[in-house]
Amino acid sequence: MYTFRRMLKASTLAACSAAVLVSTAQEQVKLGQAITEVSLAEFNLIAEPSGTGFPAGSGTAQQGRTIFENRCALCHGSNGEGNSDATVLVGGNMQSAETPLRTVGSYWPYASTVFDFIRRAMPANAPKSLTDEETYQVAAYVLYLNGLVAEDEIMNAQTLPQVRMPNAEGFIDRSHIQ
Ligand code: HEC
Repeated sequence: MYTFRRMLKASTLAACSAAVLVSTAQEQVKLGQAITEVSLAEFNLIAEPSGTGFPAGSGTAQQGRTIFENRCALCHGSNGEGNSDATVLVGGNMQSAETPLRTVGSYWPYASTVFDFIRRAMPANAPKSLTDEETYQVAAYVLYLNGLVAEDEIMNAQTLPQVRMPNAEGFIDRSHIQ
């Protein structure tokens, strides 16, 4: 009986506090405010294989080396060897049945994604902290580590999306299927 009463009390209390919560929530419901152009720009960061969405700026792998050392090597190693499967950026072999390893060089079909992903999500401990110029430089360095561009090749909105990736043909295009 005691237990039952206690349970009853507890559930009444819970119901009451739920009611309070609901009414407070109702009072507090606001429909937010319009997003500013500045905030929107922080999310509207899609850089596409077609070349749309790339900002102004340019960079070479040579320029990106120091940024990579200072901002990326902690997790990705000085040569992109990584410190876990998820952080390996170089090498790998998608054809190996036993140990397929996805890296930028072995797996990614588009170079534009390298720029897009770094600008959006890296360095993982401080995303969006690189300038566009630094992003071009360090993306060039990641492509260079994979042997896909020369050290002094200028990467910008025109050249970077055109870098041919080794696994470009490794995907089936199903975009035409509705
Ligand atoms: C604090 C650790 C950390 C730092 C610093 C860091 N990264 Fe990463 N990075 C990660 C992790 C973890 C992943 C895997 C994320 C996932 O799988 O979703 C990753 C993934 C990536 C990938 C995709 C790899 C793939 O094949 O999927 C790229 C490219 C990349 N990082 C580039 C960079 C660059 C360039 C920098 C420096 C500007 C940087 N990262 C700094 C932790 C880090």
